Amino acid sequence: MLTINDVSKKYGSHTVLNEIDLEFTHGVYGLLAPNGAGKTTLIKMLTTLLYPSSGAILYKGQDIYSMGEHYRDVIGYLPQQFGFYKNNSPYQYLHYLAALKGLKKKEMDQKIPELLKLVALEDVMKKKMRTFSGGMIQRVGIAQAMLNDPQLLILDEPTAGLDPKERVRFRNLLSELARNRTVILSTHIVSDVESIANEIIMIKNGEIRYKDSIANICSELEGKVFETEVAFPDVDQFRQHYLSLSERQDNGAMVIRFIAEKNADLNWLQVRPTLEDAFLYQYQDVGSGHYYADRSV
Ligand SMILES: Nc1ncnc2c1ncn2[C@@H]1O[C@H](COP(=O)(O)OP(=O)(O)O)[C@@H](O)[C@H]1O
Ligand SMILES: [Mg+2]
Repeated sequence: MLTINDVSKKYGSHTVLNEIDLEFTHGVYGLLAPNGAGKTTLIKMLTTLLYPSSGAILYKGQDIYSMGEHYRDVIGYLPQQFGFYKNNSPYQYLHYLAALKGLKKKEMDQKIPELLKLVALEDVMKKKMRTFSGGMIQRVGIAQAMLNDPQLLILDEPTAGLDPKERVRFRNLLSELARNRTVILSTHIVSDVESIANEIIMIKNGEIRYKDSIANICSELEGKVFETEVAFPDVDQFRQHYLSLSERQDNGAMVIRFIAEKNADLNWLQVRPTLEDAFLYQYQDVGSGHYYADRSV
């Protein structure tokens, strides 16, 4: 349905995306990569806000940049930084945007309360947004992206700033919205996409490292992820030998989850690789510079 053909994007001499090819059909696509990897750059091209330096993006075979209004009818977009008027209520704000999008009064009167109900804001739809939590604002953002009942819903870091409870609620809402459309969402947080994405796309060094199901991505690490207890004095040395994925203190020792080529010790417990393991493994060498893997959430 949406095809990216040999697309590159450069800022001056800095190549952010290098000759990438991608195809989106149906379902939820999780664009998962650390900050600075090029997620927003890709999404801005998919929404025609940025032009590729070279290559083409096609929707059902047509160049999206030449589709104009026809393409805008198809997509809904929640930007990473989404602007709204704090003194507006969601009801006012959605009416304003609906008017810009050319919806008729009758359509608005039906659609807007429906959407506000969908994102569970009907009780506060006349309240000023300045009193809203991050999660509530993001739900207004989803509602505005859904105004035209888009075939293609594109969300750039929609869970940024949400607390864990809001995140769960957001994921549930997204799975519901994804039933009869294509959803592309970007995040640098594995758990945001782990349970809802049909496919994960990872960008690394300007290229597509993965576009695959979670099961297939994890299978690459099958038989290579272990956990073991390491005494505190030995922890540093252990880390030099093996890539530590996570560590927790337990009973006066450190329990380390790590990657090794094969089981080399009777005390190691082989565990099932997770998407988080695959993510940390992929981006192990990008702990400094403009990338970073956010392990705090
Ligand atoms: N307008 C711009 N001019 C120059 N460099 C930019 C611009 N926008 C983004 N970049 C650079 O492109 C890279 C990718 O950025 P971005 O797409 O925002 O990544 P992400 O959304 O994954 O965090 C970063 O190195 C960023 O500094
Ligand atoms: Mg971004």
